[in-house]
Amino acid sequence: MSLIEQLRAQFPFYAAANPCHYLDNAATSQIHQQALAAMAGQEASRANVHRSPYRLAEASTHAYGEARARVARFLNAAANDEVVFTSGATAALNLVAYSVGETLQAGDEVLISAAEHHSNFVPWLRLRERSGIRLRVLPLLPDGRIATASLAELVTERCRLIAITHCSNVTGAVTDVAAVVAAARKVGALVLLDGAQQVQHGPVDVQMLGADFYAFSSHKCFGPTGVGVLWGRQAVLERLPPFMTGGGMVGEVSLESLSFAAPPARFEAGTPPVAQAIGLGAAVDWLMTLPWAEIHQAESALLARLLAGLATFPAVRLIGPADLARRLPIVSFEVRGIHPHDVCQVLGERQVALRGGNHCAQPLFAALNSAGATRASLALYNDAADVDALLAGLEDALKVLS
Ligand code: ALA
Repeated sequence: MSLIEQLRAQFPFYAAANPCHYLDNAATSQIHQQALAAMAGQEASRANVHRSPYRLAEASTHAYGEARARVARFLNAAANDEVVFTSGATAALNLVAYSVGETLQAGDEVLISAAEHHSNFVPWLRLRERSGIRLRVLPLLPDGRIATASLAELVTERCRLIAITHCSNVTGAVTDVAAVVAAARKVGALVLLDGAQQVQHGPVDVQMLGADFYAFSSHKCFGPTGVGVLWGRQAVLERLPPFMTGGGMVGEVSLESLSFAAPPARFEAGTPPVAQAIGLGAAVDWLMTLPWAEIHQAESALLARLLAGLATFPAVRLIGPADLARRLPIVSFEVRGIHPHDVCQVLGERQVALRGGNHCAQPLFAALNSAGATRASLALYNDAADVDALLAGLEDALKVLS
């Protein structure tokens, strides 16, 4: 069996009679069998966590803690307690915007980029409305990459936080994190990375990246929906106020006084997504066993095939860098004169699953003077037949729609 066949055999999706050519992995990936089984096992016989002393409850608490340890290993975190479970990357990014936001004063600056997904754009616009912070925005190069050369000008002494995507969900461009972290360190600013698109393409080393926060969603890295992660450097988490409040996150509560639990509990108010976290733990455990050098080579070959194929269509304009260095296999393109929704519709009828529109990144499309794009996003289980089906479908779409 080839590597792709071995990988596909582990996904219930590929056991279906006629799986489509699934190329919408940036929206959500398929779930791995191990994640599904772990989650189902927990739900079949469950108790709440961190509350009761009977054996079933203790087993739940243990399994939930083990899931946290697995995620910590996946990220190479310095401690398990640096991992906060949230409902997803969006909740993780909002957590930082609210908790760090509470420590900021009017006139303090937050730097983002024009490539951000709305989940790392709107929370900062809202914070600006509430607190009078100044929001600065790194511009884009014509091929959609973030212009990190502008860091020197835009990171001022008032900069308190740089919140930036690790990889764009539209262009596939990977951010020069080292340049961002170096610029932040010069002025003592924190760095938040939105890793939603990155984690699907292999384990991440947060200590090597050098940022202070890392956010991602389980459903984009072969785990269940409904859970995500905020990793935060322990010393940074410890000095932040909570975002959501309620059960499980307090020290002492009375009418007169209130104290908070230490992280991560401080940031996990209410019953957490226990089964989903356990499913995510199983997914990242599996990810850590994979031959990533081989997978990256296969992903790059498919990406090259797709880019070369698209380049043969005169009506197609790529939204994103054409060179293969520092980019992931997320490919967005315009088809001249045809709306992306129509392209996706025709391709969908041919069993090719794509996403079209502005991809929750309206500022990026405004910056690149584009009304929207069709997007193909590849994962480790995709093969040449998926790419070829897209290219053949696109040829049909041009005949039908031009
Ligand atoms: N953020 C996901 C995407 O880009 C939903 O499609």
